[in-house]
Amino acid sequence: MYLKFLSMLSLILGALSQPDDGRSCLGNTVYNYFYGSEGQTVNPNLNPIGPQQQGKPGKIGPRGNKGEKGPKGEPGQSDNTARELDKMQSELDELKAKFQAFSAPPSCDHISNKKYSGTYLISPDPYQVAPFYAFCNFTSAETETVIEHDTMEEMAVPKCAAAKCFRRRIRYSVDMDQIVALIERSTSCRQYIKYRCRASVIFYDTGPDYASWVSRDGTQIHYWGGATSRRSGYCACGETGTCVDSNKKCNCDRNTAPETSDEGYLTDKDALPVTGLFFGDTDGSDEFGWHTLGPLICSGRQ
Ligand SMILES: *[C@@H]1O[C@H](CO)[C@@H](O)[C@H](O)[C@H]1NC(C)=O
Repeated sequence: MYLKFLSMLSLILGALSQPDDGRSCLGNTVYNYFYGSEGQTVNPNLNPIGPQQQGKPGKIGPRGNKGEKGPKGEPGQSDNTARELDKMQSELDELKAKFQAFSAPPSCDHISNKKYSGTYLISPDPYQVAPFYAFCNFTSAETETVIEHDTMEEMAVPKCAAAKCFRRRIRYSVDMDQIVALIERSTSCRQYIKYRCRASVIFYDTGPDYASWVSRDGTQIHYWGGATSRRSGYCACGETGTCVDSNKKCNCDRNTAPETSDEGYLTDKDALPVTGLFFGDTDGSDEFGWHTLGPLICSGRQ
């Protein structure tokens, strides 16, 4: 019983003391409660039995209650730093993009070193529109900025009878606002269009138009490439009175074999580029049609 009391007491004192040196400061007496040595004042009440008679350590008490949950902390410093760095990175990216937009030439024509035709970054409207890549043709007499689309090869019109029974959408390599910005920075733009036909008409002057092309704002337009007057129902040969049937305004509108074609450039900057093509009158076993649409080509500075 006595030993138990002593070991408890020593535990309490141990808790009060500095854990590293086993010393405590109680009143004016400095003492070592286990190892009182000669020449040192030993408190007889606290250490009456001397160092050799130290008791066994007591049983370990029951586990304490779980502490209360602490207050919610502020976001850690590292979180804040990471967020700050992310913000700086995106600001830097934005600055880089702005620098690129304002340092890139507005069109191929603005590139000073015209040695190598190829793909270049251009920026026709750095305030409104992201810069984009276009093909620069420096071998032509006038530098050309070329925008391609997904229907660059000649394609057959599937079999169908009615006027405009077939439609093909045209998708460009860059966004429409980028194309429009280029058109507005250029003096002139053009796009080649051709219908190769065998007993398949384009406009046909009696009845509905069998074909059309779709402007950039979605309007169907009814003159063909090379018809400089832009009058509805006209192909290039109709303007000059040189169609294979002189009574018609398109070669294809003759509506019989053999094969012929109508072709030329569309040049209306407000309508370009072509976003769709409509055809019909290809259902008969002797009726065929094939269309070709060139890239959008712009030149000159505006
Ligand atoms: C570049 O322009 C020349 C002359 O107009 C033309 O022959 C050539 O096909 C063009 N090149 C490309 C890749 O568009």
